[in-house]
Amino acid sequence: MNALTDRWVPHPLASALLEGLRERPRAVAPKFFYDAAGSALFDRICELPEYYPTRTETALLAAHAHEMAECIGPAAELVEYGAGSLRKVRLLLEALRRPARYLPIDLSAEHLRQHALQLAADHPQLPVEPLVADFSAAIDLPPMAPGARRRVGFFPGSSIGNFTPDEARGFLERAAHALRGGGLLIGVDLVKDPALLHRAYNDAEGVTAAFNKNLLARANRELGADFDLDNFDHYAFYEPRLQRIEMHLVSRRRQRVRLCGEVFEFAQGEPLHTEISCKYTVDGFGALARAAGWRPQATWVDPAQLFSVHWLAAPA
Ligand code: AVJ
Repeated sequence: MNALTDRWVPHPLASALLEGLRERPRAVAPKFFYDAAGSALFDRICELPEYYPTRTETALLAAHAHEMAECIGPAAELVEYGAGSLRKVRLLLEALRRPARYLPIDLSAEHLRQHALQLAADHPQLPVEPLVADFSAAIDLPPMAPGARRRVGFFPGSSIGNFTPDEARGFLERAAHALRGGGLLIGVDLVKDPALLHRAYNDAEGVTAAFNKNLLARANRELGADFDLDNFDHYAFYEPRLQRIEMHLVSRRRQRVRLCGEVFEFAQGEPLHTEISCKYTVDGFGALARAAGWRPQATWVDPAQLFSVHWLAAPA
C-alpha cells in the first residue's frame, strides 16, 4: 500500500494508532482488536478452557432466562451493545414474550452482518436491524419500533470492563438516557483469585496472544505497516490495586516500525498498552450503576462467584 494515500484517507485505526504511538506510555483502545480476524479470534477465546466468563455467563442466561425475561417484560425492543456473534441473545430471545425488535450494535461490520442474517433466518417474526457503531462514543439510535413498549439494553460478556470505571459511568449515563423508561441487562466479571484471572488471559494455546497481536497484523493488512509480530511479546497480568487485567504488547528488542509514512522507534522492553479488563464486586458495580442514574433490581451470580448478570431499571 502507498504511504501517501494512507496519510490522506481518514481511517479510524490509522489515527488511533498514530496518536497512540506518539504518546507515552504508548496505548491503543481495545475496540481496534475487532476486525473480522479479531472477532473470529475472540470467538475462539470464548471456547478456551481457561476463559471462564463466556461459559459461566451463558449458563447463567440459560438457567435464569425466564426470570430475566420477566424483568424485561413483553413487547420490548432489545438493543445489544457489542453484539459479536449474537450467541447469548438467542437464550434471551427464546424466553422473551413478543420482542418488538432487535438492534445488535457492533464495530465489526462483516461479522455483524453475517451473524445478524443467520439470527433473522432463525427468528422470522423478529425485525432485526444491525447497527455498525462505536458505543464508546454517543450513538444515535433510530426511533423506537412502533408497537414497542420499552427499550431495553443487553450488554453481556463484561465488555464494560474495557472501560475505566469513569468511562463506564459515562457509558452507563448515556445508556440511561437512550434506554429511559426501560432497563439494562448487563454481564459483569467479578473480582476473584488473581491466579485464575491470570490464566484466563494467558491461555496455553496462545489464542489470547494471537488476539492481542492481531492489532499489529491489522495495521499491516489495512495500513501497510511493517510490524514484525515475532518482535513483540503478549503480556497480560492482573493488577489487584486497580482490580483489572492489563494487556500489553512488549517490544522484544530495539526496533523501528513504519506506519503511514512515519517511523516509530521502540526501545527494548517498551510496552504498547492494548487493553484493560476491569473486574467488580457485585456491590461495587451496583454503586457505579446507581451513580449513573440506574436502579439495580436483581443480580444473578454462579455458585463459584465468577461472574454476575445485573438487571438495572432505567430512570423514567
Ligand atoms: C470482550 C472485553 C469482555 O476483557 O475479557 C478476552 C476481551 N481480551 N481476552 C475481556 C478479551 C482478552 C474480553 N471482553
